[in-house]
Amino acid sequence: MGDTTFVLATQKRNRSDDADGGGEAKKQTLHTSGDPAAALASARHEFGEHGGVNMSIEASATFTVMEPETMRRMFAGELGPDRDFFIYSRHFNPTVLNLSRLMAALEGTEAAYCTASGMSAIASVLLQLCSHGGHVVASRTLYGGTHALLSHFLPRTCDISTSFVEIGDLEMVDEAMVEGKTKVLYLESVSNPTLTVANIPELSRLAHRKGVTVVVDNTFAPMVLSPARLGADVVVHSISKFISGGADIIAGAVCGPASLVNSMMDLQQGALMLLGPTMNAKVAFELSERIPHLGLRMKEHSQRALAFATRLKKLGLKVIYPGLEDHPNHQLLKSMHNKDYGYGGLICIDMETEERANKLMNHLQNYGQFGFMAVSLGYYETLMSCSGSSTSSELNSEEKALAGISPGLVRMSIGYIGTLEQKWNQLEKAITRLQETGHKN
Ligand SMILES: Cc1ncc(COP(=O)(O)O)c(C=O)c1O
Repeated sequence: MGDTTFVLATQKRNRSDDADGGGEAKKQTLHTSGDPAAALASARHEFGEHGGVNMSIEASATFTVMEPETMRRMFAGELGPDRDFFIYSRHFNPTVLNLSRLMAALEGTEAAYCTASGMSAIASVLLQLCSHGGHVVASRTLYGGTHALLSHFLPRTCDISTSFVEIGDLEMVDEAMVEGKTKVLYLESVSNPTLTVANIPELSRLAHRKGVTVVVDNTFAPMVLSPARLGADVVVHSISKFISGGADIIAGAVCGPASLVNSMMDLQQGALMLLGPTMNAKVAFELSERIPHLGLRMKEHSQRALAFATRLKKLGLKVIYPGLEDHPNHQLLKSMHNKDYGYGGLICIDMETEERANKLMNHLQNYGQFGFMAVSLGYYETLMSCSGSSTSSELNSEEKALAGISPGLVRMSIGYIGTLEQKWNQLEKAITRLQETGHKN
């Protein structure tokens, strides 16, 4: 397909308008700086077929044309989704494209495309950027699935190798990147599960000096951080988390330059086009109805996380939260975050051993009714898991130690259901009982 910025088209085509291609495609305003909420409000609003305030769901797998010649022109890349010409929903679907435009606005990138999961977005972008034998420099502290993809799957299947680094050690990162060899610097804006904050502007500067593409997973901090506005090239998301907010959908997105997104949709060479991790249009509709209140939800997640982290610390627990002033990355996060959205909705409590972590979670769920023992994050209820034995279990003991994952680390995604004081009472009650039964930290 051609190199047009199809993802940002704003003009709808008249259905009988095959011949002239429906006119010139317009671009939505690209907000590369400022508040993501302002960018989202400026994105094209799609109305329903009958004038509905919500768009219609385009549930078709395939699309018809008025003239046979149109089909040839669409496959030749002369007519595309930028002018509202659609072929087949693995290629492009209008409803998925609408959500993709919202994701591009959220992250301040030229383009975006949504996928069936966060992992498919991550795997596809890495495969697109690194050919066989490519080299990646990546943070040691990554979601377990991504870590396994880089340490086991990509080396075996594509001979793509990864040097893992301490992302806070800029010298180490710089030394690991080899000009002409390293294709990608991969990191999480706020790391899973240790909540380490990456210095995105400085890391991007170092990478760009050596021609390396910076890919940032922003799953833990949508609205709070805008990696592309801070200098990163590509932002990936597991939409399954905060963006969805309902713990009911698995989805992902790649946000980046139009040239990259277009290359990923290329008929001959595109990882998204040819591997086919396609998002269903009904899922895309659901998600696009949730994005307008993502900012409100993030504010509340962050406000409660800060309140609970502050109070838990006073109770003598070993709390990790980058919103706390004594967190080693607090000033860095303060210098980068979008002020209205706080410091994020995740906190960790280090209980040192798995046994004590399990006791804490058991008390919180079954005595205090404070939250649920479950992996994942971004739900309105609090979710908690012991990372070392769950979402980071793909890392071996040495890798976990290097990543700073203590066996007793409990990751908590703070929900916003109920009132803050009601939830604090439940939390405090459970902790007090735990401490009384001899497990004071
Ligand atoms: C930071 C991060 N990135 C990516 C993923 C993978 O996303 P998904 O489960 O949507 O494939 C996860 C999942 O837990 C995650 O926590």
